[in-house]
Amino acid sequence: MERLDKSLASQGLGSRKEVHALIKSGRVTVDGEICKKPEQKLDAEKAEICVDGKQIGTDKYIYIMMNKPAGVVCATKDNTDKTVLDILPPEFRRRGLFPAGRLDKDTEGLLIITNDGDFAHKMLSPKKHVDKQYVAELDGEITDSMIKSFENGIVFADGTKCLPAKLERIDKCKAKVTICEGKYHQVKKMFLSCSVKVVHLQRISIGNLYLDSNLPTGSCKKLTKLDKELIFMGKIY
Ligand code: URA
Repeated sequence: MERLDKSLASQGLGSRKEVHALIKSGRVTVDGEICKKPEQKLDAEKAEICVDGKQIGTDKYIYIMMNKPAGVVCATKDNTDKTVLDILPPEFRRRGLFPAGRLDKDTEGLLIITNDGDFAHKMLSPKKHVDKQYVAELDGEITDSMIKSFENGIVFADGTKCLPAKLERIDKCKAKVTICEGKYHQVKKMFLSCSVKVVHLQRISIGNLYLDSNLPTGSCKKLTKLDKELIFMGKIY
């Protein structure tokens, strides 16, 4: 048997103090009944604990798709900005969560948040060649020579060489970019080395897992087993 406050805190729902406030506010139910007693004893394996009507998970690992909004940072903690973990709804919270890979503060789109380090490593390692696709809006036109440069592997001013990437024109100043590595500010720097600036960037896929077009910006959903497999599946189309 475990106290309700301890159980919620161990699920990453906040500090003991924050969890007390949550319980006292009447937003927590245990087996369908509002429980305002932090000291309530329960069997954490069996009790159905909900916050705002949504059940708190107990799986060891969780894999979350977030449609990241601009303005939040991909970090577990930050002294000035809101992080992607700060905007997670209570039912997704756990100890040990982290964003698997970074999108810049102003980049939007597909982000995976998990507490499974091995999974994240596999997804991010350039050796695994998991493609990431982005839609970039630019302040200049896409030329055929830019497409060739991406194909040959862009070299940054400091000599860093990128692996070959695919650049596809969507329209004059909008392109789809496919890369299989994750250097710091990579897409923006690749375009800058061709003298154009990215004015908007959105990640749309990782492997064959695409951002769910029904997922509003700032929202999350749990990945299914198939979603996870799609990340590592070779090209299927
Ligand atoms: N490349 C960038 O420049 N920014 C991102 O957020 C992701 C890829």
